[in-house]
Amino acid sequence: MYQGIFNFALMNILILGSGGREHALAWKIRQSPLCEKLYIAPGNPGTALHGENIPVSINNFEAIEQLVLEKNINMVVVGPEDPLVNGIYNYFQLVEPLRNVILIGPSKVGAMLEGSKAFAKQFMLRHGISTAAYREFNAANLAEGLAYIETQKPPVVLKADGLAAGKGVLIAATRGEAKAELTEMIAGAKFGEASAKVVIEEFLKGIEFSVFVLTDGVHYRLLPHAKDYKRIGEGDTGLNTGGMGCVSPLPFVNDGLMKKVEERVIVPTIRGLQKDNVIYKGFIYFGLMNVNGEPFVIEYNCRLGDPETEVVMLRIKSDLVKHLVALEEGKLGEEDIEIDERAAATIVMASSGYPGAYEKGKEITGIENVDDSIVFHCGTTTKNGETFTNGGRVLAVSSFGKNIAEAVTQSKTSIKKIHFDGMYYRKDIGWEFQ
Ligand code: AMP
Ligand code: GLY
Repeated sequence: MYQGIFNFALMNILILGSGGREHALAWKIRQSPLCEKLYIAPGNPGTALHGENIPVSINNFEAIEQLVLEKNINMVVVGPEDPLVNGIYNYFQLVEPLRNVILIGPSKVGAMLEGSKAFAKQFMLRHGISTAAYREFNAANLAEGLAYIETQKPPVVLKADGLAAGKGVLIAATRGEAKAELTEMIAGAKFGEASAKVVIEEFLKGIEFSVFVLTDGVHYRLLPHAKDYKRIGEGDTGLNTGGMGCVSPLPFVNDGLMKKVEERVIVPTIRGLQKDNVIYKGFIYFGLMNVNGEPFVIEYNCRLGDPETEVVMLRIKSDLVKHLVALEEGKLGEEDIEIDERAAATIVMASSGYPGAYEKGKEITGIENVDDSIVFHCGTTTKNGETFTNGGRVLAVSSFGKNIAEAVTQSKTSIKKIHFDGMYYRKDIGWEFQ
């Protein structure tokens, strides 16, 4: 059992969540010699290959407390943002027997970097972090917001302040559309309480990429970066999704650009957290826009991405659990996170209709025939030993390659061995880099 500083004895670890991200985390954590028992709550049929799934909801903190005590859990790794924004870190600090458990994730205030767009923009402004110019509006100054839109050059970016299941960002092509949307968001409560406040920001034109760090609030270590393909259709067309595929590393993210990201974004963010006395022991996901070689923050997330984790975990060679223990002990600065030189790609196999309405319960066959990729489960279920679809994003097929083209080709070859009715995947993941 985990005994504290310098004693890397075996640990019982609990992962919270049930998607492809959590399957990738379970796959990686299970490989650690420091991991004794691995539990996933609630998990999925993929995570069950690496540990024991426990049917406990990620937002039921009392039930999680019981589980942690009953199973002698030493470390909890939180996958999704919800429990973090709801204050699971603070809950663990308040409840006596949980205080000694390592919880990987920020405090409730830290999670507001993702939970409130207005909070994140104020934070960036206060700490001089490179981001688009903005204003925030609510019911009290809606008229001012409408007048402000008149002064803006379209397209206009409108962001609901709170969490809106990834749907809270609207890019209006005209001022008229922007005004109608702003009214609908604030006065019409389009996203409920989440859009009571709206951030309007300058539109940035460039290429998006995601940078991940692990931080103990003082030190940080870079994890592999990635690019996510968010649209459902090939050529980046159609509706936004949770992400249809990912590649890493990106040829344009060279040392020069990464140096700017560290100097203008990462370092001032970590210093800002310190200056504001925000406890943050976990992952930070920087959603960035590369505008002619200059990085700007589009969004912060207080967790890892999905499907980004399905390539990030492949490329971390060193022991993630060891790094997480060092993080808890404030010794992350001494850690060397080893990154695989190879490229990695993941392609998401989705249900027909996603991100709109889709059917569940289609039988999935052929996963067992895949040898040269890792098939992470995102939305699946099992019945009588058979596997069925149980979500919009069903599987994330992840592969290595000496470059992106090779990794993507490997994933496509593996996908051909898998079948379910209505399966859909983008055939152009990584298209710019091939
Ligand atoms: P988010 O939910 O914050 O990830 O935003 C969703 C998407 O909106 C991002 O992935 C970007 O493609 C786009 N976006 C957000 N902010 C901006 C901006 N300031 N300029 C251009 N596109 C943006
Ligand atoms: N793939 C985008 C996200 O996890 O937010």
